[in-house]
Amino acid sequence: MRYLTFALAKGRLAKKSLEVFEKFGITCEEMKDEKTRKLIFVNEELKLKFFLAKAGDVPTYVEYGAADIGIVGKDTILEEGRKLFEVADLGFGKCRMCVCGPESAKELLQHHEMIRVASKYPHIAKDYFYNKKHQTVEIIKLNGSVELAPIVGLSEVIVDIVETGSTLKENGLQVLEEICPLSARMVVNQVSMKMENERIMQIIKDLKKTLNEM
Ligand code: PRP
Repeated sequence: MRYLTFALAKGRLAKKSLEVFEKFGITCEEMKDEKTRKLIFVNEELKLKFFLAKAGDVPTYVEYGAADIGIVGKDTILEEGRKLFEVADLGFGKCRMCVCGPESAKELLQHHEMIRVASKYPHIAKDYFYNKKHQTVEIIKLNGSVELAPIVGLSEVIVDIVETGSTLKENGLQVLEEICPLSARMVVNQVSMKMENERIMQIIKDLKKTLNEM
């Protein structure tokens, strides 16, 4: 039996995913040691390997088959646009991708004005404005703290993740349009899905059953 490799998006998603996996017998004790500098963890008995990666890299590892299975947010899946199968919604990490800005930007959106849109998600922003709204905009890629952009005058609006809404509120911004709901997803390499179908389908089945019982 060959190893099946999991790529987990570092942080909250990985922690939550491992908690869920544990409920149906997929464990990795080594990974629980928070001080470890190890990058790859093995469960010899189940022939499984796990590694943590930056969220944006998870779809890349999975598309190339360096990982058979990935756990990553829908935002990253949409932004990266990699060839892979999305097989399960884990139901946690729930939030929304939204167009946000000050109240005054509402009108600019309604009138389809040429505006600047700052985002960590330039592909999602472009797809939304060009293909769904048919509005020509200038997209500006940022790497974080995107809420700053409309405050300091870099852009009129932002496309960003809204979870509780408190970052927006504390900065005098609001949701202007909702693009799509987001949550953690399981993705699978397209070749692995064929070659290791039985094992992977069993994992998906166990995962879905466990999620339903939670
Ligand atoms: C995310 C997102 C928002 C915030 C939304 O940022 O980009 O800024 O969380 O959460 P809220 O609606 O609960 O306030 P993150 O903390 O990941 O950091 P970043 O700004 O560096 O991207």
